[in-house]
Amino acid sequence: MNVEITNTVYVLNGPNLNLLGTREPDIYGHDTLDDIAGMLEDRARELGLDIDMRQTNHEGHLVDWLHEAQAQGARAVLLNAAAYTHTSIALLDAIKAIRTPVIEVHLSDPATREDFRHRSFVGMGAVRCVSGHGANSYLIALDAVPNL
Ligand code: DQA
Repeated sequence: MNVEITNTVYVLNGPNLNLLGTREPDIYGHDTLDDIAGMLEDRARELGLDIDMRQTNHEGHLVDWLHEAQAQGARAVLLNAAAYTHTSIALLDAIKAIRTPVIEVHLSDPATREDFRHRSFVGMGAVRCVSGHGANSYLIALDAVPNL
């Protein structure tokens, strides 16, 4: 099945990221997910890309959206799977099951936090990882898309 590749970049966000802005702002900053969506849309326009930004607290939704990204011919996926990053073999399998390149994104740098955040199942399938730059992590990841 050959799907035409589009200019759309899926930006998928996992659990608790709907609370950005008020959630542990010392770690995750003061930008809300809507603020980040606005920043991404502005940058995407400059790059000739479109953003499809989503958030869910449910693991299976992320799996379904990864499949959908391939079926819809998404150019790439930026994935902040939040805590599922560190637990979800289902997400790793989904990333490996699709040809759409996936960039792992984190606001904080999990590698410098608690030990349980050091393992990333998402990272085992992603083409690269951008972490530790706050909301800018998403922009840095988007900038990488044209060169994938
Ligand atoms: C996060 C880091 C994860 O360890 C954590 O579970 C999150 C957010 C980040 O963006 O820094 O929910 O993905």
